[in-house]
This record gives sequence, C-alpha cells and structure tokens, in this order.
Amino acid sequence: MKVTAVLLAAGQGTRMKTDLPKVLHPLCGKPMLWHVLEALKSATTEKPVVIVGHGADAVQKYLGDAADCVLQEPQLGTGHAAMQAESLLKGKTDVVIVTYADMPLLRGETFKRLVETQRLNSGPLSLLTVIADDPRGFGRIVRKPDGTVEAIVEEYVATPEQQQIKELNVGAYCFKADWLWDALHRIEKNPKKGEYYLTDIVEIAVKDEVPVQAVLHDDFIETIGINTRVHLSEAEAAMRMRINHEHMLNGVSMMNPAVTYIEAGVKIGKDTLIMPNTYIHGKTEIGEGNVIGPNTMIRDSRIGNRCKVLASVMEGAILEDDVDMGPFARLRKGAHLKSHVHIGNFGEVKDSTLSEGVKMGHFSYIGNATIGANTNIGAGTITANYDGEKKNPTEIGEDVFIGSDTMLVAPIKLEDGPRTGAGVVVTKNVPEDTLVIGMTERAIRKLERKTKKK
Ligand code: UD1
Ligand code: CA
Repeated sequence: MKVTAVLLAAGQGTRMKTDLPKVLHPLCGKPMLWHVLEALKSATTEKPVVIVGHGADAVQKYLGDAADCVLQEPQLGTGHAAMQAESLLKGKTDVVIVTYADMPLLRGETFKRLVETQRLNSGPLSLLTVIADDPRGFGRIVRKPDGTVEAIVEEYVATPEQQQIKELNVGAYCFKADWLWDALHRIEKNPKKGEYYLTDIVEIAVKDEVPVQAVLHDDFIETIGINTRVHLSEAEAAMRMRINHEHMLNGVSMMNPAVTYIEAGVKIGKDTLIMPNTYIHGKTEIGEGNVIGPNTMIRDSRIGNRCKVLASVMEGAILEDDVDMGPFARLRKGAHLKSHVHIGNFGEVKDSTLSEGVKMGHFSYIGNATIGANTNIGAGTITANYDGEKKNPTEIGEDVFIGSDTMLVAPIKLEDGPRTGAGVVVTKNVPEDTLVIGMTERAIRKLERKTKKK
C-alpha cells in the first residue's frame, strides 16, 4: 500500500506577525516543518508533498529534495491547498495523509494509528480528534445521535451550542486517494470567507453515505497547533520535555529538565549529568559519564567520556576523554583538546590542538597553534597570531613550560622541553631544552611623593 503525505504549508501565518514563513520558525532548534516531516516518515512509504505559498522560495530552499513542492497561488483555504497535490499524486498513491505543517508535536505513532484505522475503514476517510477543555480556536467535531461523525464546524461559524463541544478537529486526515481527488472538487466556497475548507469534506462523505472514522487521541499536548507565538512557546516547552525525557530514559541525568535546553538530534551517552541552564545545540555528540554545566552552551561539538565542562562555551570544538574545562572557558571553531587536558578560567582556544595532558589554568588565548603533550601554559599566555593581515601559526613541543604572561609572536616554533620566564616576549624560534629569559631592563627611580609621609 502506497501512503503519501501532503503537508499544507502555504498559509501566511498572519497571527504570528512575522516576516519568516510560519513553518520555518524553529522549535528546539529545528523548523516546525522538520518535526512534522520526521513524524510522517514512519507512517508513509513515498516522498512527501509540501504545498507552499507564502514565503515559498524560503520554504523550498529549506526543503531541498526532502519533499516535492507544489505552489498554491492564490491561497484559497485548506481544501484548495490539498487540491494542489492532485496533479502530482493522482494515480500514484493508494492512501493520502493530509495534515497541517503547523502541528509539529504530532508523533509518528499517531500518524501510524491514523493510517491503520483507515486501512480497516470501508469508507474513504479517517480523521484525528482530541477532547480538550480549551478549544484554542479548533474546529468542533459534530456527531450524530448514533455517535458517527457528521461534520467539522469551524469555531467562527459554530452555534453557541456547538461551541460547547469538547471534541476538536486536530488537523490530520487519512484518505483513500481516488475518493479524495474527486471530493476536493466538490467542496464549495465558504460564503463568509471566500475560502475552500478541507473540513467540509466530512459533510461530503456523510452525503455519500460512506463511513467516516475518527481516531480519538488522548494526548492533548501532541495536538498543540501553532497559530501565535504564544502557541510556539508552549509547543517549544512541550517538545523540550519530550526530548529531555527521551535522554533521561536512555540513561542521561538532568538535575532540572525544565531549564535544560537540548536541540532535537543531539546525542548524549549514559551516565552523563546535564546541570541546569545548559544549552546543547546543532550537531553535537556527547559521550558517557560527563558532567556538563551548569550555565554552559555547546554547539556543533564533540565530547568524549568523563569530561567536566563547567560554565563554559564551546562551538565547533572537540574534547577527547577526561578533559576538565572551566569555569568560564571558551572553545571556538577548530579547538581540539585531547585527553586529560585541563583548561581553567578565562581560557580561549581557537583553531588549535592541545595534546594529551596540556594544562592551561588561567587567562590565556591560544589561536592557530599546536601544543605538544604535557606542556604547561602559564597564566596570561597569549599567542599573538594576527599581524593585522593574516593568522600565523604557533608550534609548541612537548613538556614545554610557558611562564606567566608570555607573548608568543607568531609565526613561531618552540621545540620540546624549553621554559620561558615570566613576561617574556618570544619573537624567535626556541631550540630544545633551552631557557628563554630577558626582559627589557627596568629603571627604578626615586619619586617625590605629593602627600608627605607622616
Ligand atoms: C485548521 C482547521 C481546523 C483545525 C485546526 C487544527 C480548516 C478550515 N480548519 O484551522 O478545523 O481544528 O486547523 O490545527 O482546515 N494553509 C494552506 N493554504 C491555505 C490556507 C492554509 O496551505 O490557503 C495551511 C497553513 O499554512 C497551515 C494549515 O494549512 O499550515 C492550517 O491553516 P490555518 O489557517 O492555521 O488553519 P486553522 O485556523 O488553524
Ligand atoms: Ca493552524
């Protein structure tokens, strides 16, 4: 059985008050659209079709070949939007799931249930409903006395009596394809809004005297639709909890998941503890037994096992095993800290490799450098890597002792084993096992104090 999803994403998102197409607004780091497409993957067999309109270029660019796009122009309502898929799909699929791209919390399991219900349905259509006290502007499900679905009534046309109905239209439907294409043409323009409502298709089925199945869903959270930025923040909180629960069930500890922000797609190994106010973004992979946070931000980085990252920032960086970092350290793109490296407060590393056991305790900047194993970087060491035009490399060997406040003026190379005295400005390459000292001579003169000593 071929199952294809048609995702409606052409609306303007007026209530969001935004220049960005609504479906590209992020939820836990990924556009709404991404979440819906992910969920649909497990319930469909074919490439999805996305109906685009407002911001079509941006949406299409984001999708690439993840979906086939069809332009809906002008946008004359959800029924009209679904109709746009006909030319692409007629005769090519058995079953069509139609859903809205602003429902990012619906799970794959739920779509699967909907498809399964429709597979067993002798009629042409099954739809998802939910019972909720707060209707949030959703269409109401009107049932006949015998309990079968009679119609979906949109909130603004519902009678006061219908407004009291607690069963709502979630916005996910599963159709027999042949029936769908025909029925869409029979939807009439809504006289009030001049739009074609997909929801009117239920009455067409009722007129045809074919059974409409409803799948009553019990998780209201999953059916949060996003029409405003308030809804977006509610959905974000729900998605965050879902992501965090999954990590916890996989063996990750979180002291307070409500203030732990992990993007969809991040990987974390067991026995890692994530402390509060930690943000983990992008393509990040974290191994086992680490302690991350509090107050830490990590993006597009890789962390091995048993590391400690306290109150620090990492972007495009790698930590191997047993690295101890922070508080207040910053690793920028290309920073690679091998195992047992220690980097303390106010250290910054960019485009550099620190080999096994390097210690860099306090206030240093290391850029475009390679540092050999067990070298000690004294407090206040700076690689002066930028000459105003380009970045120059610094190469430091193994077992080097860089004294406090050393300036390494790049390009420069220190072989294995040298020591530098405090405050040295190193401008020439340093051979193996040598000592670099030499400060400009200090003159000490007597001063006349303005206030006399008593
Ligand atoms: C819709 C349903 C409502 C349901 C609710 C659940 C209709 C008429 N109403 O209302 O019963 O309870 O969703 O979330 O379907 N879109 C297009 N082209 C258009 C118009 C809309 O592609 O011409 C897309 C939008 O981008 C959006 C989706 O369809 O992703 C739903 O449109 P929206 O205006 O948000 O419908 P609701 O008012 O939420
Ligand atoms: Ca909506």
